[in-house]
Amino acid sequence: MKRLLAVVALTLAACSSGSNAGSSAAIEAPRPAYDVKDLPPGPVGESIRYGHDIMVRTQVLMKDYVRSDMSCAACHLDAGTKSKGGSLVGAYNRFPQWNKRSHRVIALQDRLAECFLYSMNGRPPAYSSREMIALVAYVSWLSRGMPNLAKERPGDRFIIPLPAHNPNVAHGAQIYSQKCVTCHQANGAGVSGTFPPLWGDTSFNSGAGMAHLDRMTGFVRYNMPKNAPGSLSPDDAYDVSAFVLSHKRPRFHGESLVAPEPTPARYF
Ligand code: HEC
Ligand code: HEC
Repeated sequence: MKRLLAVVALTLAACSSGSNAGSSAAIEAPRPAYDVKDLPPGPVGESIRYGHDIMVRTQVLMKDYVRSDMSCAACHLDAGTKSKGGSLVGAYNRFPQWNKRSHRVIALQDRLAECFLYSMNGRPPAYSSREMIALVAYVSWLSRGMPNLAKERPGDRFIIPLPAHNPNVAHGAQIYSQKCVTCHQANGAGVSGTFPPLWGDTSFNSGAGMAHLDRMTGFVRYNMPKNAPGSLSPDDAYDVSAFVLSHKRPRFHGESLVAPEPTPARYF
């Protein structure tokens, strides 16, 4: 195990010193995947496990906090362990970080709150709640062994540069009816609990990362269709994503201040 971590650390050191560091020579670090058997015993292990369960069963475990009919794992595949599938491995170590959207330095809780606000079209739990702490515990577990304040590993990102030409939405509609409709349905609403919605009232809102064409195109290119990931050409992924994003979805109303209530704690 020690040796494995050393490889991870070495690889990261090579990657984090920038794009000119010859990082192409670096070996792909093995992923510390999630396995219940590896969790530490006691309450911390339980918290990590609860965080994992929230990722995959968000609508059930946190139904008062989310309006979209999806779980975190709809976009963070395999509960956030899949490279180019919304991996959260190493995310813990990238905070605090500067956030353009809110124009301030944010902690991991703030970033998690954003996914509740936008991707889940809901409201964030209190930062000291059992749920928020569990999600932090889970992301920290996935990130174990990574250096602090690490830079993002470019290999993990699914955002890709978009083609210079406009997308062909009509062609995207054809791709959709050939390769997506069986799971995500003609009305884009998916099948509750099985296939997540791509548009409409139950989908993520207009403020979500996935509502950006570059992000959805990258996600679709690497991960969809679920039964044949990687089979779409870059242009097909671009066109079908533009078709998906041409439909209506909930609008994010960002006027009001968001201030989750603290959870009371006992001090002695
Ligand atoms: C609709 C898709 C979607 C859903 C659902 C979703 N996310 Fe995300 N999430 C994203 C995208 C896309 C990004 C990257 C955003 C960007 O680069 O702007 C992201 C980023 C993040 C990050 C920051 C990762 C980093 O490396 O900085 C965390 C943490 C996170 N999400 C957690 C969650 C949690 C927890 C949930 C469920 C409560 C959730 N997400 C639900 C799409 C989603
Ligand atoms: C065999 C079923 C299946 C097919 C076909 C399929 N998907 Fe998915 N899709 C899923 C599942 C299941 C998820 C949730 C993530 C996971 O479990 O891998 C998902 C997640 C998504 C997401 C992120 C979550 C969301 O709701 O926004 C997008 C975007 C998406 N699919 C787009 C597409 C597109 C575009 C196509 C056609 C090119 C497609 N999918 C084909 C099953 C499918």
